[in-house]
Amino acid sequence: MKKISIAIDGPAAAGKSTVAKMIAEKLSYIYVDTGAMYRAITYKSIVDKVDINDDTEIERLLLHTTIQLKPSANGQLIYLDGNDVTKQIRGEGVTNKVSKVAAIKAVREEMVFRQQMFGKDGGVVMDGRDIGTKVLPNAELKIFLLASVDIRAERRHLENLQKGFPSNLEKLKEEIMLRDKQDSEREISPLRKAEDAIEIDTSSLSIKEVAEKILTLALERIETK
Ligand code: CDP
Ligand code: CDP
Repeated sequence: MKKISIAIDGPAAAGKSTVAKMIAEKLSYIYVDTGAMYRAITYKSIVDKVDINDDTEIERLLLHTTIQLKPSANGQLIYLDGNDVTKQIRGEGVTNKVSKVAAIKAVREEMVFRQQMFGKDGGVVMDGRDIGTKVLPNAELKIFLLASVDIRAERRHLENLQKGFPSNLEKLKEEIMLRDKQDSEREISPLRKAEDAIEIDTSSLSIKEVAEKILTLALERIETK
């Protein structure tokens, strides 16, 4: 069976990573969580006390940073310089700073390059903000996931509670709105729907329904490749 590339973009907590993982598993494709890569470098900048307003320092930090995405029975694990940071990169400190770090030119160039290397042979499902527009502009299938901010905040809230993390719905909503604004308004590769992307509003859809829709589209593309 021919392998295609699938790009899934959209705002925070729209359901991208959950469905991307399901599609990748069904098709036996590689899953690449590009947000985790931006989170990993942000985490390192915090640990190493690097000023995120100093682009040169951030650029230097990047040069000595390895980020690996490893599949495991419990989902994808994120390794930073050989250490598992899967949990740490989801913390509030990283979430509040990641959009600032992701807007830095050197960071974007390096991450896009690394992501394109992951996707160079096809057979990949990649989720993020600029996958259809910048990272995989020739992807055979591009999806743009949407949901209202209230629903996205509620879903993240529920997810936090299920994981036993402290969570405040109003704060989450504010954080999501701020991050969406920063991601949409940045100069380089802002969050934007690619012209040839298919938009799916997930507000009233279950994860299974979203995954089924995307899988049907993917199988159509695979057949005609
Ligand atoms: O899962 P959630 O929607 O909270 O965020 P994420 O996918 O982990 O992405 C974290 C942040 O990384 C986003 O808010 C963006 O600032 C940045 N990002 C990006 O700039 N480009 C991407 N392709 C993916 C993420
Ligand atoms: O990757 P992204 O930030 O776009 O979102 P996610 O982490 O995949 O999804 C955020 C939360 O919404 C997760 O807890 C999903 O299980 C949930 N979700 C949902 O309840 N219904 C959907 N149709 C999609 C996601």
